[in-house]
Amino acid sequence: MVIAIDGPGGVGKSTVARRVAEALRLPYLDTGSTYRAATLAVLRAEVDPANEDAVEAVVESAAIGYETDRPYLGEEEVGSGARSPEVTAAVSAVSAHRRVRRNIVALQQRWVSDHGGEAVVEGRDIGTVVFPEAPVKVFLTARPEVRAARRAGDSEAGGRDLSHIADELAARDHADSTREASPLQQADDAVVLDTSVLSNHEVVARILALAAVAGYREGGDRSSP
Ligand code: C5P
Repeated sequence: MVIAIDGPGGVGKSTVARRVAEALRLPYLDTGSTYRAATLAVLRAEVDPANEDAVEAVVESAAIGYETDRPYLGEEEVGSGARSPEVTAAVSAVSAHRRVRRNIVALQQRWVSDHGGEAVVEGRDIGTVVFPEAPVKVFLTARPEVRAARRAGDSEAGGRDLSHIADELAARDHADSTREASPLQQADDAVVLDTSVLSNHEVVARILALAAVAGYREGGDRSSP
């Protein structure tokens, strides 16, 4: 029983997903941070992100974890390192490898089952591949200039200017949407919400309304759908 929130970078997924998780008292999993932790391990190992065999070997031995909203490599909390501009630039190449994704998707599925089988999960392929049976699927979109302006305020922007950030987002969208292995794609049964016209508050309210239909009540109560 998962609430799947997908969409490209800069649409406000994390803010919205965290608020929904808080309102429903569900655990929250940011799957992007698991790919980012993997990428940090790859960069530290000085392995070419395009080399699938080498990347797979690093990821297999990296002990990627996720607790209290932050990614780990072994015992080390790597939240801020995983959001560095270097990781952001390499993450699409690392996450494009089919075998790497198989490994990380299994980790995400295990995490949810270890946390009681119910969670709010955000990413790119949650409604299509990781939890295709999720009873609530939302796909967030926003106009490119709105997304770039949002990202400019994030730590991974690294103080770069708006046009640079817009180019980087467009390149990552292209790489994430055209890769062969589970590309960024809207699930047929996902509800699309445009965060350039809706406030975070409105987006959260709409997701909570969808969740209520699926039996999730604010404050953590459950009822049969
Ligand atoms: O959401 P965030 O920007 O942190 O994601 C970083 C990258 O991780 C994405 O650009 C994408 O390449 C990859 N990713 C993915 N599948 C997911 C989540 C993220 O491939 N479910």
